[in-house]
Amino acid sequence: MTAVTTSKTQQKAWAKAIADPAQEFPLTPLSVLSGAIPSDLQGSLYRNGPGRLERQGQRVGHWFDGDGAVLAVHFADGQAEATYRYVRSAGYVDEEQAEAFLYSGYGSLAPGPFWQRWSSQLKNAGNTSVLALPNGILALWEGGWPHRLDAKTLETQEVDALGKLQADEPYSAHPKRHPQTGDIFNFGMVAGANATLNIYRSDVSGRIDRKQSIPLNGIPLVHDFVLADRYLVFCVPPIRLNPLPAVLGFQSFSDALMWQPKHGTQLVVVDADTLEVISSEAVDPWYQWHFGKGFVNNDGDIVLEVVRYENFATNQQLKEIATGQYDTPALGQLYRICVDPETATVRAEECLVAHHCEFPYVPADQPTVTAPTFLSLDPPNRDNTGELFRAIARFDPDTAKLTVAETGLERYPSEPIYVPKQNATTSSGWVLTVIYDGSAHQSELWIYDSDRLEDEPVCRLHLPSVIPHSFHGTWRSRATG
Ligand SMILES: [Fe+2]
Repeated sequence: MTAVTTSKTQQKAWAKAIADPAQEFPLTPLSVLSGAIPSDLQGSLYRNGPGRLERQGQRVGHWFDGDGAVLAVHFADGQAEATYRYVRSAGYVDEEQAEAFLYSGYGSLAPGPFWQRWSSQLKNAGNTSVLALPNGILALWEGGWPHRLDAKTLETQEVDALGKLQADEPYSAHPKRHPQTGDIFNFGMVAGANATLNIYRSDVSGRIDRKQSIPLNGIPLVHDFVLADRYLVFCVPPIRLNPLPAVLGFQSFSDALMWQPKHGTQLVVVDADTLEVISSEAVDPWYQWHFGKGFVNNDGDIVLEVVRYENFATNQQLKEIATGQYDTPALGQLYRICVDPETATVRAEECLVAHHCEFPYVPADQPTVTAPTFLSLDPPNRDNTGELFRAIARFDPDTAKLTVAETGLERYPSEPIYVPKQNATTSSGWVLTVIYDGSAHQSELWIYDSDRLEDEPVCRLHLPSVIPHSFHGTWRSRATG
């Protein structure tokens, strides 16, 4: 872990949300600050993110290493109640008892001399996303097994092998549901002299029924992938681990990752039925954390959306964010890329959103050519230096229109989650985002009409404690249990 001192005067308002460990709260009815809860909003919003970045004055070495804490907001009949709880991973429980950091993480090193770190365990932070299943929800982290939580109370129940994971097989944080079959696809990177990309397919219960292993060159970093009808697409960026310093404990995993653009970005197209590789090809280098929608067009080509960076500086920026301020710029832009599935070559590419954006969100049942993509965004024509996102947006591909909802100078929205309206014949829905208000030092849940994002939110709900900036979430409608 890293002792960090930063000047509070240089910090932006967002830093206050992660300055202190988040406070849990039990199931609590939420009070309405403005508007009204839509009566057809029936189900639960779940969000996951790092709730604790500090112990005894020590800060984690990277934002990705904060202990996972999950927010659940349950909606029924125009009312809402919420709870917020840490994921009780074994490492978290140990560190709670010791009142000190004990383990290494993605960008953090365990305390002590390096020869002790060499054998130190990795802590499963359980902090990245949530997958809702019929018998609970999974708190996901890409370096290990998921934790199963009670869907109502968020009580941690167990780490879950999903029927088939071996001890060294992680289950990543960006699973995808097939809109027709309901099958769940995901992957995990298995460490070794060369990494292995494991691909998993589960039924609707989450139980893995098919697994395939694809050997890779070196140890790259893969965070997300694309599901496009009968294809899966992996874009393996030109990142390679410098293994010796990481294995010996001289460097964290994150610090030992090297940007090597000579490799290009490797596109790997996989058959979603057999999980066999169809094609693989290196293209011009880029880095991405996240993809938007993926589908197959009328010509049989794969169309995917990706938030693309020119290099890996984004990782340095995310490391610095854990300190409460950052200096490293990183520009992510939404691109649409057309890929020939037989050759894994790029047929065409186009920048859709040139403003810095992230967290593209597309409802699982609408990966169509005309469906909008929702994003977190830097507000245009503002000074965004050192800031986190202060707007959400909707991109409509048929008109290329970008509709921006600015949330305010010191109000920081989370990834926007789209929820379809019940019985709607169009793609109308609600957009839910958790806001941290730095002026008031409080968190709120805002609900927008997806067709009127430029208007005020239709409802603002007060949350009982500050919810630190989170990564990813999901919606589970009441009808699906
Ligand atoms: Fe992610």
